[in-house]
Parts: sequence; C-alpha cells; structure tokens
Amino acid sequence: MPDTRGSIHGQWSSRFVFILAAVGSAVGLGNIWKFPYITGENGGGAFVLVYLVCIALIGVPIMMAEILIGRRGRQSPINTMRVLVADEQANPAWRWLGWLGVVTGFLILSYYSVIAGWALAYVFRAGAGLFTGADADSVSTLFGALLGSPESMLAWHTIFMVMTMVVVARGVRGGLEKAVTLLMPALFVLLVLLVFYAMYQGAFARGVEFLFNADFSKVFQHCESLESGGPASCRFTGEPLLIALGHAFFTLSLGMGAIMVYGSYMPGNASIARATLIIVAADTVAALLAGLAIFPIVFANGLEPAAGPGLIFQTLPIAFGSMPGGRLFGTLFFVLLTFAAWTSAISLIEPAVAWLVENRGIARVPAAIAVGVLAWVLGIGSVLSFNLWSGESFQLFGKTWFDLMDYLTANILLPLGGLFIALFAGWVMSRAASRGELRMGDRRGYRTWRFLVRYVSPWLVVIVFLNAIGLI
Ligand code: PFF
Ligand code: NA
Repeated sequence: MPDTRGSIHGQWSSRFVFILAAVGSAVGLGNIWKFPYITGENGGGAFVLVYLVCIALIGVPIMMAEILIGRRGRQSPINTMRVLVADEQANPAWRWLGWLGVVTGFLILSYYSVIAGWALAYVFRAGAGLFTGADADSVSTLFGALLGSPESMLAWHTIFMVMTMVVVARGVRGGLEKAVTLLMPALFVLLVLLVFYAMYQGAFARGVEFLFNADFSKVFQHCESLESGGPASCRFTGEPLLIALGHAFFTLSLGMGAIMVYGSYMPGNASIARATLIIVAADTVAALLAGLAIFPIVFANGLEPAAGPGLIFQTLPIAFGSMPGGRLFGTLFFVLLTFAAWTSAISLIEPAVAWLVENRGIARVPAAIAVGVLAWVLGIGSVLSFNLWSGESFQLFGKTWFDLMDYLTANILLPLGGLFIALFAGWVMSRAASRGELRMGDRRGYRTWRFLVRYVSPWLVVIVFLNAIGLI
C-alpha cells in the first residue's frame, strides 16, 4: 500500500532533499565537538572501534526502522505511533515511545544550544583575528574567558535558540532545505583542509595511532582531566561501552523521533536502505575527519586528549592561528560548524512542533516559539554549569547540570528509545508492513535487516546497559 497517507506538514521535494536533511540532522556538534572529546576521554582506538561496531550493528538497522516507521505513519512521532499501534492492533502502551522522543529532543536541545553558542562566539573571535599566532596557553585563556562569563554564554545561547525557532517556524520546505544544500558540502571541504594542516604541522602519526590503534586494555578506561589542567586521571569501568553506544545514537540522531519525523516527510518511492547507508557514511566520515584533524594538533602542542568538552575550542584555534589564511578559514569553519549545529537543532524540536500543530491545532510559529523558549530556560542550567554552578555543592552524582543532561539523554534515553524502536519494527510490525515499506528488491537484504533489528540490536543495547550498571 504505497503512500496512502500524506503528511499535513508537506513533503521533501525529492529523495535527494530527504537525504540532505537527514545528513543535516546527523552531522553536527556530535561529530566535530563531541566525538573527539569523548574519544580523548576514553582512551582512543579501542573506543573508536566499539563506536564503529555500534554504528554498523545498531545504528544502521535502527535508522532503517525509524525511517520506515515515520514514513508509514506520516505524522509526528506521537501520532505516528498511535496510527501504527492501530494498524498492527498492538498494545496501546507503545504510544509512550512517541512521547519519550519528544521529551528527549527537548532536553538535548537545551544544552546543544549552549554548545552551539560557543561555536557562534568563536566565529567572531576568529574573525577578529584573536587566534593569530596563538599557542596552547593563549587559546586556553581565551576559552576560559568565555566559560567564565555566564552573561556572554547566555547571550550566544539565546541567539542560537532564536535562530532555531525561526527556521522551524518557517516549516519543512521554507527553511530546512536551503540551508543544507550548500553548507554541508562546504563543511566537509574545510574538514579535509584541517586534516591536511594536521598532516603537515601536527603530530600526525601519533594522532592516527591514537585514533585507530585499538588497545583493548583501554576499552574499560575512562579518564578525566583534573581541574588544574594537569594530566588525566583514569579509572577502570564499563562506562566507555555505554558512552560509545550512546554516542552512536546521538551522532546519527536516532532514538528520539528526529529521523522518524524526517522520514514522515520522505517521498514514498525512495529507498530507505540506500538513504540510510548514505546518511551513516556521511556522518561517520565527518567524525573521523574531525578526529584526524584534532588529535595531531593535540599531541603536537602537548595538550591533554582528555581535556573534555573544550577540546576543539582549545586545539583548532592553534591551527587557524598559524596556517596561511587562517583568519578566513577559522571564521569560515566556525560559521559552518554553527550551521551544522543549526540543521541538527532544527530536527531536535521538529517532533514536538509537529505534534503541537497536529493535536493542538497550534500554528507552526507559536508552536516553535513555545518549545524553543522552554528549552532555552532549561539551557540556563547548562550555561551555569561551566561557571557559577560548577562547584561540588551544585552537583548531583558528581555531575554538573550539563553533564547530567548529556548523560541522561545520550547514554540512557536515546538507547532506550532506540531499543523500543527496534522492538516495535522487528517484533510488533508485521512482516508485510515492514517489507512493504522498505520495498527492498533484495530478499537477502531484507532478511539481514530483520534479523539485526529483532535479535542483534536490542540485545546489544540491553547487554551494554546491564554492563554499565554493573549487573554483568
Ligand atoms: N546528530 C546530532 C549531532 O551529531 O550533532 C545531534 C542530534 C540531533 C541528536 C538530533 C539527536 C537528534 F535527534
Ligand atoms: Na552526528
């Protein structure tokens, strides 16, 4: 039954635009800001390998599941689940899955916008030539000044959130499509340029070894750099597995309905499997390029790989400060990073906005404003986590508000959402339904997908969870 339902929010103008939008959602701060710093905190190569395995065995099948559910339901995740529950005569409790996604997206956006604000602030620092001739010390002073000023962090957070609300308010075609077409390819070009810089000016061999030499004694080592900026302290724990798993979901925008809602705007005749492979490949390449650009600079300048969330802001300016044309390239890079974050942020609130439009009859503009303002308020906690609330008396389980939001969403809520999406697509939806929606000509391909989504992905998620809480 191809395309009996249509989306009231419109549809992407082509299959290509769907892929662009999904790549826009996937490629973002997760690749360029988060992947390098968590890799640095979790020992490098072995962590990267676990992450890549999670992408292949969990990310790919669950992305296909999410797109197919979205395209079959053709509504916001909450209503899509309602429709599919009716189609399949499934337990109504599955409808909670849509809600889980809406809440998760909103929580992620709250801190995502704060970090995107850093990128925005750095556009102007690079443009003003503040990196020229910078070394590790001056760059870290510059970064410290941003963190130490809640006012300016709040201002950038506010600007970014307004940017996000504006695009979401304009709707699927008006806003989202144009931004991605040009800017995503440009970001890739700049990343490649940075890798070339790292090749000639950085400790490239050491960087490559750190990223790709899997030393398995380090899979269970989680390191944190000390307050003083001294060498990292490491401890033995199962947490890196959970962080790698959680990051696979985060980086691919899976487990919360973002890809589902984009799938609901996907033309009926496009191949879900092929789109998935392109999206996953682009996202993975972006992350690995970022790693290849950053670690050689880290080692060449005696920096600490486990420096934490500030890693790219304390390494890349050194590169821009010493390369020819660095002022221009630096500015351009942070502009593109901001755009990458922007196209991801949009997808974080689209599920909630689409639902408000469908169920409450609210127009897109007020719906986007309502969700954005709520996330903005919650984001203030993350702004303060780096300054006024960084002290121990403001921490819970040894984590600041920002750390807590990050941990809760990326490592718990997204894998949980993904687990249920896999179970729904693999066990609840009939074979006829998933087969019909995937329209895979290739029998073997469909069988492999169904096997992965029924048996492999869910079990892996469960095992990693149990391991992280110390049960196995
Ligand atoms: N995938 C985005 C990134 O890597 O930056 C972050 C993200 C966007 C996560 C949308 C989840 C989501 F639904
Ligand atoms: Na990503």
